[in-house]
Amino acid sequence: EKDGYDHFMLKEIYEQPQMIIDSFRGRMNASEGWVRLGGVNEYRNKLNKAKRIIFGACGTSWHAALVGEYLIEELARIPVEVEYASEFRYRNPIIDGDDVFVAISQSGETADTIAAIELAKENQALIYGICNSVGSTISKMSHAGSYTHAGQEIGIASTKAFTTQVVILTLMALQLADYKGNLSKTQLNATLFELEQIPEKVRKILKLDDEIKAIAKEYHQANNFLFLGRGACYPIALEGALKLKEISYIHAEGYPAAEMKHGPIALIDENMPVVVVANNDSAYEKIVSNIQEVKARKGKVIAIVNEGDTVIKGIADHVIEIPATLEIFAPLVSVVPLQLLAYHIAVWRGADVDNPRNLTKSVTVE
Ligand code: M6R
Repeated sequence: EKDGYDHFMLKEIYEQPQMIIDSFRGRMNASEGWVRLGGVNEYRNKLNKAKRIIFGACGTSWHAALVGEYLIEELARIPVEVEYASEFRYRNPIIDGDDVFVAISQSGETADTIAAIELAKENQALIYGICNSVGSTISKMSHAGSYTHAGQEIGIASTKAFTTQVVILTLMALQLADYKGNLSKTQLNATLFELEQIPEKVRKILKLDDEIKAIAKEYHQANNFLFLGRGACYPIALEGALKLKEISYIHAEGYPAAEMKHGPIALIDENMPVVVVANNDSAYEKIVSNIQEVKARKGKVIAIVNEGDTVIKGIADHVIEIPATLEIFAPLVSVVPLQLLAYHIAVWRGADVDNPRNLTKSVTVE
């Protein structure tokens, strides 16, 4: 069932181009210029009038929510808050019938997320579920929702579930933006055309596998890793760090690149590999200076850059060149090399990638 791959995680990383297609198919049409998630359409009025959207999730799904926050605020201009489901449920959150609570969960069975939904429901919020498992508890508890169509995910480290969650959140942001009249027809068409190109771009990134494996070999004995990103790619830094922690047991932290100078910079020396997500156009100059700060302290920089980059190539120790895309899709493509990096580091360390210690696929305890 691993289809010749050494691990389910690797198989699932490679399935992403197809799963991304499966997640947007039938939900948008680039040449006709429309985007339509059934659930969003059904609750159109409620969503349009929403005072706030609150995301509740855990782990990787929480990282997808952070990307969703960026996309929805940027495109639809609706205020968004992202909550750890586990924290939300144990306080007395301010939430009412004018709020929309969006729960994101691959399994649809995560106990903390279920409890957060119950609380949001008691407070009359509309519940929108973004789940992968069809017929799961969360999908049944939700008033409306969208399935991610990632297929069954077996690897404990979530990969294709994340990218498809980001696809759904992108469609949701575009649809809400369209309702509000925030996008011209030309902008919407161009964005959807680019979304159609993403699976091919991810395929190109997968071809960098050997290159990433070699980088992984060089750093697999490191004890610590730092991951940096800005804007919508900050959650990708968090996700890259989480992947590495889960399967290789290396201590890793994700930070917004600009926060580095407020503390974590003290950790940087010649033994600290720093992975920088630097394919984010509008923050490019800033990211370059963050990389210079790391290099000035002898840190080792592995940077994810757009193809053809010259500036960062000149200062980083390694660059992983990926196809350029629109800024809103930068998170979707840049997470893929980080998944491969974590995977190969874990394999070089001899770790049991599909069954990391202390973890289960869905956390059904509180
Ligand atoms: O099934 P869910 O998306 O609700 O799961 C949430 C987290 O437990 C999950 O994303 C976890 O962090 C993964 N092991 C990440 O790879």
